Amino acid sequence: MSTADDLRPGERAIDTDPPGDAALRFIGRIETPWARREDCPRQGRLDGPECRVVLDPAWHDALEGLEAYDRIELLYWLDRSRRDLVRQSPKNDGRTVGTFALRSPVRPNPIGTSIVHLERIEGGTLVVRGLDCLDGTPLIDVKPDRCAFTPLAPAKPGEDTAP
Ligand SMILES: C[S@@+](CC[C@H](N)C(=O)[O-])C[C@H]1O[C@@H](n2cnc3c(N)ncnc32)[C@H](O)[C@@H]1O
Repeated sequence: MSTADDLRPGERAIDTDPPGDAALRFIGRIETPWARREDCPRQGRLDGPECRVVLDPAWHDALEGLEAYDRIELLYWLDRSRRDLVRQSPKNDGRTVGTFALRSPVRPNPIGTSIVHLERIEGGTLVVRGLDCLDGTPLIDVKPDRCAFTPLAPAKPGEDTAP
């Protein structure tokens, strides 16, 4: 278990309830133009409309440094999905496929992910393009995209630095 003593220089922790086993903590909400599932794109496009990722104030400081990235990865909770299907018929044509062979929102743990274009940061709000979720979708996490053109984390002691 981490304690305040584990903090490295410059790091800041906030007081939160200890999470239960594998419990998720939503960190904000996503504002999009889509109120109905049938209006949402199936997958976001980087030239899609601007959407706003509104972080809870406790996490604003966690955005420090994110402005260096053009593309970021968002993880969100597809909260209006059913979660009990093991086979699905995406085209409703009688043919089914296993849930884990699809990116359908219907899954046991309805986590959605998108790589989005970070247009700008306005305080604790990320303005992005490339989303495909309903207005009000809970946010789980924000990460820089990992690709050849984004800054790499410094190597850990003894770690091979070859690309
Ligand atoms: C196919 S999923 C893809 C999500 C994500 N890009 C992924 O690949 O993990 C996107 C669809 O999920 C549905 N959806 C979006 N937001 C949702 C929400 N909050 N709850 C339930 N379904 C949602 C919409 O029908 C949307 O077209």
